Amino acid sequence: MLVSAKEMLQKAKAGHYAVGQFNINNLEWTKAVLTAAQELNSPVILGVSEGAGKYMTGYKTVVGMVNGMMEEMNITVPVALHLDHGSYEGCLKCVEAGFSSIMFDGSHYPIEENVAKTKELVGIVKEHGMSLEAEVGSIGGEEDGVIGKGECADPAECKMIADLGIDFLAAGIGNIHGKYPENWEGLSFETLDAIQKLTGDMPLVLHGGTGIPEDMIKKAIDLGVAKINVNTECQLSFAAATRKYIEAGKDLEGKGFDPRKLLKPGADAIIATVKEKMELFGSVGKA
Ligand code: G3H
Ligand code: ZN
Repeated sequence: MLVSAKEMLQKAKAGHYAVGQFNINNLEWTKAVLTAAQELNSPVILGVSEGAGKYMTGYKTVVGMVNGMMEEMNITVPVALHLDHGSYEGCLKCVEAGFSSIMFDGSHYPIEENVAKTKELVGIVKEHGMSLEAEVGSIGGEEDGVIGKGECADPAECKMIADLGIDFLAAGIGNIHGKYPENWEGLSFETLDAIQKLTGDMPLVLHGGTGIPEDMIKKAIDLGVAKINVNTECQLSFAAATRKYIEAGKDLEGKGFDPRKLLKPGADAIIATVKEKMELFGSVGKA
């Protein structure tokens, strides 16, 4: 059964580790992430962007697939199905479809509007026993059409949003979606520290988890990050393994063109990447 991400992230914050959110795109992706979580006895969050939701034909399909898979794979670790960078309308659709968690990304609105919309969603989400993530500041780069300027969050605004009754907070601290550029200045731990001091027990979320050096990940966890989002890194692993298979001509040998064979190296590569991240985040054995 899907669970809200509230409890798993409170536990993570108290235990000084982080739970990974891994974005899913299709059946293979979902199966790979669930396999890694179950094998490592780790809680996990399946992230679905609005673009990926559309790609999978809609949120109801996603809920049906994930619920069916969890039952038939005998998944016993805590799993949350979470809308990633949702619009207000997207959030309502996911509540109706049966997600267990949503992120409302109101970071591009003036703070007053972000507060007003987040507040409305807090009420709706509570009625359904779901969890809610909100965002302040912006994550740089682009993810599925969501483009951010990369502005560090104002800690006072973070407190304002945290006090509305949300369950976890994403704050821009110099993190970027996609690959980090050579001249990236790193995460702003000064900002993160100020945010954590003002928001107390609130689990903090680090987006743009692809390519952040290990020492920065560990320091971010020390400063209150309890959820880390990873998307691009799984896509890169999948693409590299699939390319290797095709370039080696494996798709031309025997029944190598069978989609179940063709997609396997990529799926195995996702499992390996997710496991590596779970080890780094410290969530292994925490289910
Ligand atoms: O919301 C999802 C993420 O923040 C993932 O970022 O693609 O840089 O790993 P990433
Ligand atoms: Zn993100």
